[in-house]
Amino acid sequence: MPSTTATASSSSSSAAAAAAQPTHPGAMALGIPIPQRDASPSPSPVSSVDGLSPRSIIEPDDRSTRSVNQSIFDFVCENGRTYHRYQAGSYLFPNDQSENERLDLQYEILKVLLKGRNYFAPLKDPRKILDIGTGTGKWAIEMGNAFPKAEVTGTDLSPIQPEWVPNNVKFVIDDANEEDWMLDPMDYIHTRVMLGCFEDFREIIAKAYRHLKPGGWMESQEYMPTVYCDDGTMSPDYAFAEWTQTQDRAAMNLGKPLRIANKLKRWYEQAGFVDVHEEVFKLPINSWPKDPQFKMLGRFSETNLLDGLQAFSLQLFQKGLHWTKEEIEVYLVHVRKALSDRNVHAYHKIYVVWGRKPFDHELGVPSPPNYPPPPPPRE
Ligand SMILES: C[S@@+](CC[C@H](N)C(=O)[O-])C[C@H]1O[C@@H](n2cnc3c(N)ncnc32)[C@H](O)[C@@H]1O
Repeated sequence: MPSTTATASSSSSSAAAAAAQPTHPGAMALGIPIPQRDASPSPSPVSSVDGLSPRSIIEPDDRSTRSVNQSIFDFVCENGRTYHRYQAGSYLFPNDQSENERLDLQYEILKVLLKGRNYFAPLKDPRKILDIGTGTGKWAIEMGNAFPKAEVTGTDLSPIQPEWVPNNVKFVIDDANEEDWMLDPMDYIHTRVMLGCFEDFREIIAKAYRHLKPGGWMESQEYMPTVYCDDGTMSPDYAFAEWTQTQDRAAMNLGKPLRIANKLKRWYEQAGFVDVHEEVFKLPINSWPKDPQFKMLGRFSETNLLDGLQAFSLQLFQKGLHWTKEEIEVYLVHVRKALSDRNVHAYHKIYVVWGRKPFDHELGVPSPPNYPPPPPPRE
């Protein structure tokens, strides 16, 4: 990774950033300074407490033509929400506190729905784990705790991960669209809830394949935004289902498809993965189910969706459909009402797909000769 010097261009943050040039040993070895939010006293000089280290955020190198010279903490502010600065405009959803709290809630919902499992691939002592689009980093941190011998890297466009993380977890500000991820070969690569992030998720799958060791696993855990109903209680004009279609139209206009979950298995197989599996879980949109666990999941799901509706709509509808903020807010009133209607027994599908990169011998590549070579025959 080429070294770079971070320069904060914004007036208020530049002095603070200059005053706060950090000294994380790992980053300095790479020659990459780690930016800090401000010059206020930080937990340093303590470098490790009870297995936790100060967050290691590595600023992107200067291979990109956009935004790199601006502080990655100097977020873009629009409509009272903040958005990522690095590669600004690429990801259409906010990165502010309320969105981050929603992401953390969503993590807990999925954890319960997936029966406490963070992964489905049959991992055996993985040493290098990558989480693409790690968000607040919860999954990466739990994987760091579950696999203490592994080095877990979470990448994201936004520096929204916690200050203190396990010693074996690091976060890198990086754009997964970059041609080269500049990472060591991985044992396991994970993506979760990345709908609407990429023009073509097949490119991410192909890159992950290249960055995996033979025998390594990739896994995606993905929301399908379509709303389903099995008992006829959802009318054709149900406002929440109509919203997902509007959202889909906006995303397609912007070239960032949302409906990727049900295609993942096929895409994994086309990329060359073998042993590809798919499991589909039903997540009720509100507390309509009778079953107490699904009722509870539905209640949290409703909160997650209500909290997220504005975030999911604002930039998408403004940029993709040219709606005004006022038009969006008025529209969402009906959508919120529909979302909370327990007479409609609607649910989302969550897809979990995992597959293995084949070993060379499975691809017909000859094995390397045995080393050391056998001793020459005696005369
Ligand atoms: C919906 S959030 C999901 C976060 C996390 N995976 C989770 O399950 O909570 C999507 C995340 O992907 C990140 N992201 C979007 N586009 C990206 C890109 N091109 N490269 C890296 N991260 C990206 C966003 O910044 C955001 O944090």
